[in-house]
Amino acid sequence: MTPDIPPITPVPRAAVIVVAAGSGTRLGGGSPKAFVGIDEHTILRHALRGVFAAPEAQVVIVAPEGREGDALTEALESAGARRDLVSVVRGGASRQASVQAGLRGVWPDVDIVLVHDAARALTPPEVFERVIRAIDDGADGAIPVLPVVDTIKRVDAGEIVAAVDRSQLSAAQTPQGFRRHVLDAAYRAARQEFTDDAALVAEAGHPVAAVAGDDLAFKITTPADLDRARGLVVPIAPRQASLEHAPALPRVGLGTDVHAFGGDGALWLAGLEWPGEPALSGHSDGDAVAHAIVDALLSAAGLGDIGTHFGTDRPEYAAAHAEAFLARTLALLGEAGWRIGNVSVQVQANRPRFSARRAEAEAALSAALGGASVTVSATTTDGLGFTGSGEGVAAFAVALLVPA
Ligand code: CTP
Ligand code: MG
Repeated sequence: MTPDIPPITPVPRAAVIVVAAGSGTRLGGGSPKAFVGIDEHTILRHALRGVFAAPEAQVVIVAPEGREGDALTEALESAGARRDLVSVVRGGASRQASVQAGLRGVWPDVDIVLVHDAARALTPPEVFERVIRAIDDGADGAIPVLPVVDTIKRVDAGEIVAAVDRSQLSAAQTPQGFRRHVLDAAYRAARQEFTDDAALVAEAGHPVAAVAGDDLAFKITTPADLDRARGLVVPIAPRQASLEHAPALPRVGLGTDVHAFGGDGALWLAGLEWPGEPALSGHSDGDAVAHAIVDALLSAAGLGDIGTHFGTDRPEYAAAHAEAFLARTLALLGEAGWRIGNVSVQVQANRPRFSARRAEAEAALSAALGGASVTVSATTTDGLGFTGSGEGVAAFAVALLVPA
């Protein structure tokens, strides 16, 4: 009988680039704006709810440097069955540079690209639908707009110099959608900063259509905007362990790591301290066994790798031992709906000699992973290679995850 394997998802024809890499200077929320809470969930998390309720699309999130892992975690929490459509890239110094970084992450077969401000966190999915429909109907580009309700004056040096006919004016919102080749070419041609993507595309000579915007698509810019959002927000329901959202099949992951001898202090390997043995060098304690396991687990879950979550810009992990890395990894897996089936890791090294402490190492690693089965084997390489010459240690791990 043929096993019941879900079909491989075809590449969607649209992508949404969610720009979330701004610092939020005007909001002054203490962290990058996308990570400021509206309720118990962040601006980014609320923005992604609208994105994932809209027609299916690849989703490229553009995150501030150092927050890529957090963005990926939030995305996988809200993506449900669309988790394989999500990726995170690092943003740039301006919004335009961030959109450009996002564009580089759009898959080749995608032919409609929407650019959306994470700061427009409450944008309803219907706005995405209207923009996509306008492009399907033939427009090169389409943006949501709202009529301007205030009476508008031109002011110069504190004096009203003219009234402006507001019937001709509209306020532009996002998502702004474009044919992919039009947006790509306009970005390649851009020689200055524009305030939005529509202006950049218009400069490249393309007409841009207007569709109806929505009051809820306002941009959270100032503390007053955040208060407004707090008054309007609909709470995100806790995630139900539903069949539809549960990852369908077990997944395996592979991780390897290498560290050289030459560190300070004691050797830490496989979660144990090894008195009298030479230390390994590296960020944190150089525990290649633990780091290989982290990579295997994150890879199996599609959560990036150790650099995504424990990069050298995270000082709290600079001196951390295996337990801290593994505990955080276990939490990330849980949030994404996975539990560990088992982990198998092999150490290649002349020393330390593992045989006497194998059970102890397995127990330490297993405890740090919430009691999951961890087996450790060790081997030498007959004097060959860098492990054979005693320069360092290599570790190879495979992990199996099963839906929680
Ligand atoms: N943005 C970005 N990369 C930047 C600047 C802005 O991805 N270098 C994103 C923001 O995260 C936001 C959207 O562009 O979702 C609109 O920008 P804005 O509201 O100006 O946000 P910030 O730049 O973060 O805020 P401020 O200008 O007050 O610092
Ligand atoms: Mg800004």
